[in-house]
Amino acid sequence: MASFVFFDEVYKTFDSKEVLRGLTLLVRKGEVLVILGGSGTGKTVILKHIVGLVPPDRGRVFVEGKDISRFDENQLLPVRRRVGFLFQGGALFDSMSVFDNVAFPLREHTTLSEAEIHDRVHEKIRLVGLENIDWMMPDKLSGGMRKRVALARAIILEPEALLYDEPTTGLDPITTKWVSTLMRNVHEKLKITSIIVTHNIQSAMAVADRVAFLYRGRIKFIGTPDEIMACDDPIVHEFLRS
Ligand SMILES: Nc1ncnc2c1ncn2[C@@H]1O[C@H](COP(=O)(O)OP(=O)(O)O)[C@@H](O)[C@H]1O
Ligand SMILES: [Mg+2]
Repeated sequence: MASFVFFDEVYKTFDSKEVLRGLTLLVRKGEVLVILGGSGTGKTVILKHIVGLVPPDRGRVFVEGKDISRFDENQLLPVRRRVGFLFQGGALFDSMSVFDNVAFPLREHTTLSEAEIHDRVHEKIRLVGLENIDWMMPDKLSGGMRKRVALARAIILEPEALLYDEPTTGLDPITTKWVSTLMRNVHEKLKITSIIVTHNIQSAMAVADRVAFLYRGRIKFIGTPDEIMACDDPIVHEFLRS
């Protein structure tokens, strides 16, 4: 089974707080892996390792077979182009229209003409279920729409993988369901690898091929949604009931 990401006994400490303690985790190419875990347990730190925003203290992080743990900023550029990152909160540029937000990575990283950019932006905006919103400003959008625009921007360079950090936090239950379905649809359409960090158990079960439960700096359990629901480990049980 080909791996997209592999953490090989990764350790990470911040200010004497041990966050990752020998974390080993394999993300298969083409799967939707959801990482579950309590608040402050290191979920965001895991995602940041995958794009080299945080280097491990010890251990190695492989992306598409390459050990990126000692890559410099230049070496990380192609990695960041191949792996889209949806940060918590969406993080759109508030002074730019929806169109310019989604077009931004194309203008930064490609030499496409404005006509080509126009087509590409509209293709992605349609893919996330929106239309006729080119000239709207982000502060006029609902939470769910902001997520979708952020998603359109994250896929505009046609990445091999997408990382989502708490994509449903702060959304009402109906929008949460929508966003979960959308993540699954985008995954199927683009045939990518998706890694989703969340503490929303229902959303996790709805979208995941496999679920990994992070506890005390390591993966305590990894398996399909059915397998984790049937798991009789008391700590996993306690978390799922919370
Ligand atoms: N850049 C940093 N500097 C110092 N501490 C950090 C940094 N990034 C994360 N941490 C700490 O690491 C722990 C895990 O953080 P995080 O991965 O954000 O948790 P979560 O599981 O909620 O996403 C927290 O205690 C956080 O304060
Ligand atoms: Mg986090």
